[in-house]
Amino acid sequence: MKTITSIHQMHELVSLAKRQGKKIGFVPTMGYLHAGHAALLRQCRKENNLCILSIFVNPKQFGPAEDFRRYPRNKKHDEMLAKKEKVDIIFYPSVKTMYPTGYLTYVHVRTLADHLCGPRRPGHFDGVTTIVTKLLNIINPDVLYLGQKDAQQAVIIAQMIDDLNWPTRVKIIATVREPSGLAMSSRNSYLSDPERYQAQALYRSLRMAKKLIQAGERRSGTIKQKINAQIKKNTLARVDYIECVDAKTLVPLRTIKGHVIIALAVFLGKTRLIDNIQVRA
Ligand code: PAJ
Repeated sequence: MKTITSIHQMHELVSLAKRQGKKIGFVPTMGYLHAGHAALLRQCRKENNLCILSIFVNPKQFGPAEDFRRYPRNKKHDEMLAKKEKVDIIFYPSVKTMYPTGYLTYVHVRTLADHLCGPRRPGHFDGVTTIVTKLLNIINPDVLYLGQKDAQQAVIIAQMIDDLNWPTRVKIIATVREPSGLAMSSRNSYLSDPERYQAQALYRSLRMAKKLIQAGERRSGTIKQKINAQIKKNTLARVDYIECVDAKTLVPLRTIKGHVIIALAVFLGKTRLIDNIQVRA
């Protein structure tokens, strides 16, 4: 396993692999790796000759009041996990390398960021699409692996790849959860024990909502109210949003129909967690 910090070196390794006819799989992350990231890496390893992982805490996707500085980092642990998952190359650039002084270019995908996390985190998705564009240009992968945990991010990136005619295929991997149902997240490390306990309500309420829909409920207002009531029983939880959206357009639905994502963001203390579940009605 190689750790590469320079864009030039990364380009050279990728060009060589291409000339050798290797299929390249790529998993972009911000590090502090957990079993969710590991699931993406495992799939990537299985389906490609060269498995590339990037670790880069991208300052441009954090708002001024967000947690860029205190975002958890642990290079040693990440390298161990990557080795275990048989990663070939870790791309580990510095902020200066990715955004040298005078950097000016951003990539913006219209309308898909108007809902869910978009309005609550202004500029966040432009930061994500910008860094993913740069990483795709540097790595030029055949397949890109993303997690369903960040459903809106996956929809936006898939749209961008399609719109910009990249040949890269996108594969979305199911959310990996702790035994309690809590979706794995690097940000879970911020949670106190009582917050972590109460955070189980997120997935529990999503499962309840899915059951309601499967039993015939179609009014999204009713579903959202019931999720809200379940979450509110937890004194440390504060709902940011609960929404039922079309899985492709991310537009909020009044009536549940077709392929739907029920998505939510909830603060546990100061930590903002997101989760979602898919339903077909
Ligand atoms: P990060 O939060 O580190 O996540 C990296 C990838 O792992 C994303 O595709 C995310 O959806 C996936 N992932 C996270 N938790 C998961 C879980 N519990 N189960 C399955 N997959 C999970 O998402 C980012 O980084 C950044 O925005 C990035 C795309 C790297 C751009 O900076």
